[in-house]
Amino acid sequence: MSTVETPTQATLSNHTTLRLGGPARRFAEAGTAELLVELVRELDDAGEPLLLLGGGSNLVVGDAGFDGTVVRVANSGWQLGDNGILDVEAGQNWDEFVAATVEAGVGGLECLSGIPGSVGATPIQNVGAYGCEIADSLLSIDLYDRRTGERRTLSAAELGFAYRTSVLKGTDAGVVLKVRFGLKVDGLSSPIRYAELARTLGVEIGTRVPAADARAAVLELRRGKGMVLDAGDHDTWSAGSFFTNPIVPAADAPAVLARITDVVGPDVRVPEYPADGGVKLSAAWLIERAGFAKGHQGPGGRVSLSTKHALALTNRGSASTADLLALAAEVRDGVIARFGVELHPEPLLINCAL
Ligand code: EPU
Repeated sequence: MSTVETPTQATLSNHTTLRLGGPARRFAEAGTAELLVELVRELDDAGEPLLLLGGGSNLVVGDAGFDGTVVRVANSGWQLGDNGILDVEAGQNWDEFVAATVEAGVGGLECLSGIPGSVGATPIQNVGAYGCEIADSLLSIDLYDRRTGERRTLSAAELGFAYRTSVLKGTDAGVVLKVRFGLKVDGLSSPIRYAELARTLGVEIGTRVPAADARAAVLELRRGKGMVLDAGDHDTWSAGSFFTNPIVPAADAPAVLARITDVVGPDVRVPEYPADGGVKLSAAWLIERAGFAKGHQGPGGRVSLSTKHALALTNRGSASTADLLALAAEVRDGVIARFGVELHPEPLLINCAL
C-alpha cells in the first residue's frame, strides 16, 4: 500500500477535470490491482468512508470535500492477447490506451477517442460517443466485490448496459480492477453510425474506415465542442456533458413533442432519436431553446455554459461547486418550466446535491 498525505494531493480540486471539490481527510494511491484490493479491504474493515478516484472527469465534489479516504486507482497498462482481446488495468488513462490500439492497427474504440478519464470508469456508465459505446466491445471486467470480499469476473451481459448506465452506476459496492475488450485486428473502424462523423469523414453511414482516420475526425469534432482537455481553455474545465439526453417513454412522447413544437413553432425540427423504450431528446438543444445560450453565465461569471457546447457546465477559473450547482439548477428548472422535460445530471455528485 502506498499512502501519501500532502495538502496539495488532498484537495480534490486538483483531481477533477472541473477543478472543483474541497479537501479529503486522507489520500492514498494504489499502483496495482492487488494493492487496490488490499487497501479497499483494509478501509472497509476499519469502517472508513472511501471515495474511489479515477481520472476525476465525471465527478462533482462538494466544497466541503470528502470526510474519509480518497483512493486513487493508479494501476495502469494493458496486455494484447490473441484475436484482438485486450486486458486493461482500471487506472490506465483511457485515451492513451485508445491511441495505442489505433496505432497498433486495432479497431473498435476509435470513436471513443479524446474522452478524459480512466479505463475502469468506462463500464460504470457505459461511456459513449459518436455512435459507439463501451458495451459494443467490452467482453468482461474483473471486480472486487466489497460485500463479499471476493474478486470475480462479470460478463458484459451481467453488467446490464443501457444508455449511460450499467448495474455498477450509483453503487460503490464493486471496484473495477480490470476491463477486457474484444477488438478488430483488421485495422478498420466500427461501421460509422453518427451522421456528423460520417459527414466529417466524407463517407456513408455504415462504412468502415481506417481506425486512425476515424480517431482523427473524432478528435477534431470533440475539440470544436471543447470536449478535449486543454488547461488553457476554460471551456474544457468541465465534466463533459453535465446532463444526460432525456429519454421520454414512448407513451408520453407525442404529448411532450407537441408541447415542444408549441413552444418553438412548427417550422423548427426537434432533434429526436429512437431509444430503448422511447424517444431520446437532445439536452443541449432543449437548453438552448429554453433560453440558455452557449456561454450563459452563472453566479458572478465564475461558471458558465461552455461557449462551444450548451451541455457542458464549466469553471471559468475561480468557481466553487456551489456556483456550478446553482447554474445547473437554473438550467434544469428553466428546461422544465419551458418544456416540461426534466434533465438529470450525468456526473456522480459526491457530498453535494442538485
Ligand atoms: N446541440 C445544441 N447546442 C449545442 C450542442 C448541441 O443545440 O451546444 C444539439 C444539436 O441539435 C446537435 C445535438 O444537440 O445536433 C447533438 O449534439 P452532440 O452531437 O454534441 O451530442 P450530445 O447529444 O449533446 C452526446 C454525448 C457526448 C458525446 C456526443 C457525441 C450524452 C449526455 N452526451 O452529446 O458525451 O461526446 O453525444 O457522440 O450522451 C459526455 O457524456 O460527457 C459526452 C461528452
